[in-house]
Formats: sequence, structure tokens, C-alpha cells
Amino acid sequence: MAWTRKHLLGLEELSREEILEILDRAASFKQNQNSTGNVKKLPNLAGKTVVNLFFESSTRTSNSFALAAKRLSADTMSFSSSGSSVSKGETLIDTALNIQAMGVDAFVIRHSAPGAPHLLARHVKVPVVNAGDGCHEHPTQGLLDMFTIREVFKKLDGLTVSILGDIRHSRVARSNAWGLRKLGARVILCGPPTLVPPAIGQALGCEVSHDIEYVVRESDVLNCLRIQFERKAADFFPSTREYAAIYGLNSERMKRCKPNAIIMHPGPINRGIELTPELADGERSVILDQVANGLAVRMAVLDLCMSA
Ligand code: CP
Repeated sequence: MAWTRKHLLGLEELSREEILEILDRAASFKQNQNSTGNVKKLPNLAGKTVVNLFFESSTRTSNSFALAAKRLSADTMSFSSSGSSVSKGETLIDTALNIQAMGVDAFVIRHSAPGAPHLLARHVKVPVVNAGDGCHEHPTQGLLDMFTIREVFKKLDGLTVSILGDIRHSRVARSNAWGLRKLGARVILCGPPTLVPPAIGQALGCEVSHDIEYVVRESDVLNCLRIQFERKAADFFPSTREYAAIYGLNSERMKRCKPNAIIMHPGPINRGIELTPELADGERSVILDQVANGLAVRMAVLDLCMSA
């Protein structure tokens, strides 16, 4: 298909064909590895500059986008709101327009406000990629999760993917749900009723369950989400010890899972809360594969949007 989309703002608006185009482009980048297993540097974005505009903390996404841009031969600039003129009251749009005036070719933005990337896209001339907007969407995380599942199972259609935990505050859950359903997966949202209200299931077209034992038995993929303490998620259950006992993944619970079930987590992990350390580091875990695949997925996104 001919890619025409300049911005990547969310997976809700992408078609099945567009998602597959990104995943297939990422697969071709991943195949193109050098002798040490790293994705090879390509000339696709030579002479262009990608700006990381991060108004919220990040380890995986910010570094993965920076490396993806470098692997496509782009120059990179990193902006973090701490220490910038945002602390003097400069707005998001003024900040972006001033950086754009330096001559840049794309913005990758993370912001605590849902819709901030959409607002930015209406004001700048260059592509905008959403790297996480509040509790709304994290499209490249959704894409790298789908890429990783497809790599393991060679398909997405017909799989049961359960997303566990703090769905209420999760942009990862929303992007995964939109994307996975378009590619034919069954998606179950599981967690305490306070963190998985029925309206979220209805809005995303997903099943909702509060029974972790049922969900473990049903699932090909168990994607554990971080309890977002910074968004006051701990106010929604009595204690982290009780959460871990009732909704956390542990080895005892995983004795009843499907033989080939895999465990995912977008990171950062609260070890011992969402899942035990032995599961996070165990043979079913694909958590570091997710991070590795993020590079190829973000190369694909930058390449497609910046060439559109
Ligand atoms: N998964 C994820 O978005 O991690 P960071 O917050 O470290 O970017």
C-alpha cells in the first residue's frame, strides 16, 4: 500500500492495512542486521533532523526513538521540559514553533496531557509522532507489542491477548486494544473493578474480567501493565500487597496457563507487584524482546511518516 499518513497520533485511527504496513516494514528493518545482530544503519533520513520533545520521563521510548533516527542516518535533538523555558511559562506550541524555526523535520512528543500530540500536529509543518499522551495512547508501544506477539506466534488473528492491571490509566492498554482487535485478536482486560471499569471494555470493544485465574487459563499472551503510582493508581485498591496477591502474576498461577503462553510488560516494572521477578526474568518473558523490537518499529514509523 502507498503510505500517505504524515503523523502517527494513535492506533484508533489507523486501518488494519496501515498497521500491517508498519509491522512489515519493521520486520524488513529487523532482518537487515549486521554481524553483531544490530539493525544496520541505512541512509533513508540522511540530512533530516528528528526532535525528541519529552515533557514526561522516559527510558525506553526516548532512547529507542533517538537510536531509530540515528540508524536511519538522521540527526537528533533532545528536548526535556525540565531545565527548559517551559519552567518560565513558555507554552507547548511556542516551544515547538521555536524549535521548528531552527530547521527540523519531525517531532516525537511525550506529554502528560491527552491530545497534546494532536494539538501540536495542527500547529507545526512537520510530522508529529505520539510517544505517549497522558492516559490516551502510546501507539509505538502498541505496535512493538503486536510485532513481538506476531514474531512469537507467526500470527495475531485468533490469539487471546489479556492486558492486566491498571487499565484505567493506561495509554498502552488503549493502543494495544485498538491495534490487536483490528488484527483479529481477542482482547481481555483484567484487573480490579476500580481499575477496569466496564465502560472501558465497551469503549474499546474488549471483554472485561476480574478473575485472574480464568484469564491465565484462557490467554496466549499475558501483558502486565505497570501500576501508575504517579497517576494515583494506588488510591484504587487497598494495598500493593493485596493487589499482588489477587491480580499479580506469579509462578503458582502460571502453572495453569497454556503451554506456550508468553508474558509481556511495557516497562518500567514494579517487580513483585504486577509480576514476580522470576517471571519477569523467566523463560516465558519476552520483555526485553519488546524493547529490542521497539527499535525496528520506530525506524518503520519515522521512515514512513517522514517520507509521506
Ligand atoms: N514503555 C515505555 O513507554 O517506557 P518509558 O516510559 O521508559 O519510555
